[in-house]
Amino acid sequence: MSKVNALLQDTLDWVDARFPLTANWKAHLSEYYAPKNFNFWYFFGSLAILVLVIQIVTGIFLVMHFKPDASLNASGVPVAFASVEYIMRDVPWGWLIRYMHSTGASAFFIVVYMHMFRGLIYGSYRKPRELIWIFGMMIFLCLMAEAFFGYLLPWGQMSYWGAQVIVNLFSAIPFIGPDLSLWLRGDFVVGDSTLNRFFSFHVIAVPLVLLGLVAAHIIALHEVGSNNPDGVEIKKKKDANGIPLDGIPFHPYYSVKDIVGVVVFLMVFSVIVFFMPEFGGYFLEYNNFFPADPLVTPPHIAPVWYFTPYYSILRAVTYPLFGLDAKFWGVVAMGASTVIIAFLPWLDRSPVKSIRYRGPLFKGFLVAFLISFFILGYLGMLGPTPGRTLVSQICSVIYFAFFLLMPIYTSLDKCQPEPDRVTK
Ligand code: HEM
Repeated sequence: MSKVNALLQDTLDWVDARFPLTANWKAHLSEYYAPKNFNFWYFFGSLAILVLVIQIVTGIFLVMHFKPDASLNASGVPVAFASVEYIMRDVPWGWLIRYMHSTGASAFFIVVYMHMFRGLIYGSYRKPRELIWIFGMMIFLCLMAEAFFGYLLPWGQMSYWGAQVIVNLFSAIPFIGPDLSLWLRGDFVVGDSTLNRFFSFHVIAVPLVLLGLVAAHIIALHEVGSNNPDGVEIKKKKDANGIPLDGIPFHPYYSVKDIVGVVVFLMVFSVIVFFMPEFGGYFLEYNNFFPADPLVTPPHIAPVWYFTPYYSILRAVTYPLFGLDAKFWGVVAMGASTVIIAFLPWLDRSPVKSIRYRGPLFKGFLVAFLISFFILGYLGMLGPTPGRTLVSQICSVIYFAFFLLMPIYTSLDKCQPEPDRVTK
């Protein structure tokens, strides 16, 4: 052993005697046995970590120049809006940092939706992975809160009126509603106090919770082990040394595989950041290039694309019930449409996990659910008409039916037997 190697080994021994570095490296990387048949869908967990890091690092640099201040500067432009323009035009590389952050927000949702879809098709939420799913759902809710708070900060027209619409929804809650929305805004309309508190939530409170939840998510995953495209539990078949027969060490096999995903992702991400950062108005909305103006309501207010399916469900409820107005029930339906996803582990009664061995009933409901989800997402971007409202009502019913009828159709479904060992 060369002198350098000996010195490195001594240093590592010194650290290991005080902190379980090698033990953790082994437990979570070089001796964490993952199923050998991970496919395309398994790229999105590590990509979600990558986007989280991109958002935190670019966010830190944005905060160095951004000013959460709704007052008007000497030119009559809100200081917050002007500080974003300053970042875009005058801060060296500021445009890149800002476009990475705005593109990163949409990329986060694309990656997380793909990651959740993988869980759905391979039954990764089923026993013993219920807590991984619950932590995932908490991450998803935090992510939505994070995106909502962040969207107010540039103080453009859509930031302002979007926040106004969403905070006003709380006023539909009986008795406490109006006071609640006043308390959330900190003012009678969205104003400087709203901007300051959303800034505080966006840069520190929610990211802290998010990081804690991601740690819990991965600790829970490593406790029970990963699922795979066959839905077979690899821990059931081990060799004489206690190593799963269908498992391979995460490092180097999947660390190298994940780098391929990272490279492809960064290529696509760069093309968007450098050539089409607004992405046709889907990632950065045109109306948000106008400073917030409390006196001018934009003709059409729609949330960013990742919220539109739930926004459609909100608008699909047009009937009052039990003396409470439709807006209240719309808010309830919108909340329920996200929270219900957390109950999947207990709604699914199928004997198999993976879609590969599921019967036609699950596959049929899944396709209907997906189509409805996309239609709801599309309609949420458009203004309402009676025809569109009817379609969104039908799609909302299908959306909820997928979850609520799941205990029935998954019990009745004709599944194929799961194999003993992983196949491909
Ligand atoms: C910041 C967001 C998230 C990050 C960084 C993250 C990270 C990860 C990572 C690294 C893995 C292991 C690799 C893999 O299986 O792809 C994983 C697995 C998993 N995640 Fe997430 N995740 C996030 C959000 C979510 C959400 C929103 C859900 C669902 C509601 C979810 C559900 C799961 C499940 C069920 C697994 C186990 C998959 C399996 O073993 O087949 N995650 N996550």
